[in-house]
Amino acid sequence: MTLELSQRIRRIPVYPAADGYGAKAPDVKLASNETPYPPLPAVKQAIDRAIGSLNRYPDPTNSALRQRLVERYGVNAERIAIGNGSCDILLAAGEALLEPGAEVVYAWPSFSVYPHLAAASGARAIEVPLDAQDCHDLEAMAAEVTVATRMVIVCNPNNPTSTAIPLEAITGFLEQIPPHVCVVLDEAYCEFNLMDHPDASVDLLRAHPNLVLLRTFSKVYGLCGLRVGFALCGSPDLPRAVDQVRQPFYCNALAQAAAVEALAHQDVVADRVTRTIAQRISIDERLQAMGLSPAPSQANFCWFALQGVPRETSRLDEEQRELVARIESETMRGLLERGVLVRAGGALGRPGWLRVTYGTGEENTRFLDALAEVQAQVGAGC
Ligand SMILES: Cc1ncc(COP(=O)(O)O)c(C=O)c1O
Repeated sequence: MTLELSQRIRRIPVYPAADGYGAKAPDVKLASNETPYPPLPAVKQAIDRAIGSLNRYPDPTNSALRQRLVERYGVNAERIAIGNGSCDILLAAGEALLEPGAEVVYAWPSFSVYPHLAAASGARAIEVPLDAQDCHDLEAMAAEVTVATRMVIVCNPNNPTSTAIPLEAITGFLEQIPPHVCVVLDEAYCEFNLMDHPDASVDLLRAHPNLVLLRTFSKVYGLCGLRVGFALCGSPDLPRAVDQVRQPFYCNALAQAAAVEALAHQDVVADRVTRTIAQRISIDERLQAMGLSPAPSQANFCWFALQGVPRETSRLDEEQRELVARIESETMRGLLERGVLVRAGGALGRPGWLRVTYGTGEENTRFLDALAEVQAQVGAGC
């Protein structure tokens, strides 16, 4: 029997999750922008303590975590949303804000969950191409805001392109957006961004009640296996609305306990950022020495066109498109044969490009050596 699914489900794209989680996982996993460092002993102990109470539902108000976030960011408790990962808040925000006839504006390529928001709600997605430097074109995005716009998303630093825009530009952009339009600044990777202090955007909340800063414990805090994220908001409207559309107890007890403990270790966060940036600099140099041109990364991953793939892939003829697809798939296969998993650009809106998370020094060397070998085999392109 084949189930008759709703129109809505038929519209929603299937999330292009990275491989590498099954029984035959490759040993070098650089596909999901995770941190390569295991959880801290103190975080593990906090999880162990919480395990004893798993016969009870988690605190539905997330009070301990909420209180730590209030202390850290100086944002009132009712202006903080907590979620089962920041994606949970993003999807709930889409449900709360969007409906048929409404519009959501975001850049493209950007985070692959954004297209779900319009598809799930029946709203219209306005995808604004990144500029020639693979950065958000804020002017073009502001020009797309109409009376139908309910939500604008800016991903800074941007996934998958790793590029960032200065906070000054975002501040100017916010001035142009009507106050009833929700602006989500997705800052999943902000700790790795050296352009501005990661928390400088928090000051913008005072002047912009429509602003939502989306943050996660999945990246620098290394807790993606538990699923916990949060949003700092300019007004209580969005936290209230996302709670209306979600199940209660959306953030599990172990995630709450781990996040509270992780926040207390900012020295470790700083150390991880320093180590990641050191890897960023050395990988960038090696990729350039191999004749590749990685985008200027402000994140924990790099983004580059494979050898033989032109920078602009949207205007290729049929034959060139096939060649680019071949280069991408042969490169992915060659890397996988050498135990290295990265993310192919084709699934992220840019065929022939790769997104590669920075791992440990050893993992990065494995990746770079494998890429050099595979490049030599794959040969010439367009
Ligand atoms: C830009 C961006 N936002 C949000 C997320 C989701 O993070 P979480 O694990 O908190 O749901 C990711 C994860 O890769 C991301 O790249």
